[in-house]
Amino acid sequence: MKTLPLKLSNAIDRELAPLSMDKLTAACSDLTQRYALGQFIDNQLHRQAYIAARLPATYGVSQEVFRRIEPLLKPVKSLLDLGAGMGSLAWAAHEMMANLERVTLFEKDVEFLRLGQHLTQENLHPLQLAWCRHDITKEDIFPSHDAVVLSYVLNELSLNEQTHVLEKAYEAADNLLILIEPGTPEGFGHILKARQLLTERGAYVIAPCSHNAPCPLTPTYKEGKDWCHFSVRIPRGKYHMRVKDAALPYEDEKYSYLVVSPHPVSDPKARVIKAPIRKTGHVILDLCMQNTELERRIISKSDGKIYPKARAIDWGDEWNW
Ligand SMILES: C[S@@+](CC[C@H](N)C(=O)[O-])C[C@H]1O[C@@H](n2cnc3c(N)ncnc32)[C@H](O)[C@@H]1O
Repeated sequence: MKTLPLKLSNAIDRELAPLSMDKLTAACSDLTQRYALGQFIDNQLHRQAYIAARLPATYGVSQEVFRRIEPLLKPVKSLLDLGAGMGSLAWAAHEMMANLERVTLFEKDVEFLRLGQHLTQENLHPLQLAWCRHDITKEDIFPSHDAVVLSYVLNELSLNEQTHVLEKAYEAADNLLILIEPGTPEGFGHILKARQLLTERGAYVIAPCSHNAPCPLTPTYKEGKDWCHFSVRIPRGKYHMRVKDAALPYEDEKYSYLVVSPHPVSDPKARVIKAPIRKTGHVILDLCMQNTELERRIISKSDGKIYPKARAIDWGDEWNW
């Protein structure tokens, strides 16, 4: 489980402690309804509700995406976070990118900037953080960084804005462009469109795909039957439990993602694209293969050494045997 760093959960507690729990709970359900209607955050209580209900999840998902590409993050010294919100991604990057020196955070909402600065203040030492107020749809050029991220932002942009921002973000990414969206059909739809646009511009897909060819899930996605997404278990802190009136101390957050590079990728692997079905004596794995096929494999004890590996493998892992 992706537990929040202690300093972050303490900073959240300090931010939320003065608020009435009833107001915060009402703001959370209002925010959920607004998101369902394609409307977004527009007051301070919504922002605080976002801290209580969404920030732990976006932190956990970004940490999980970084874990999946960890070897590629070693050379990353600079990171540009577009639509940074309160900077939850900078916390995950601080933890997962051993050589990271500086993070630039572009955010249009001045109150998010203020909250983000307040939460990160002196907590991510020795990272240099540059918080900048920018509307990313109005920028014609973004400063170059080793890695550029758009996390839960495409969803808030029109189609034309998405195209503009993706093109500029790709131009600014010296090594990696990382996109994260909710693991819903809509979220995957944004990722799929971005994948097509970026591969047409010459990008090489690193993850989760095993190849650069058109996504083989496109037909089933268009029929509304299936889409590429993954899941990560997020522990619920005390505010999260209360505002969601939750019984379980965790939630399974679904996400879709895409990592591309302007440089060729060596040896992409097949990937497990659904939760493995573990039965007595055999495991069923749904795989996206390097040859662009979707394949269901049933691996049983009689398959020898790969059987224990198939039992241990998880949804989203690379299949490397
Ligand atoms: C759902 S939040 C995600 C925040 C953060 N990236 C995360 O993963 O937690 C979307 C953020 O994108 C910001 N945003 C939306 N449109 C933007 C734009 N045109 N320019 C800059 N920021 C924008 C919003 O203000 C908000 O903070």
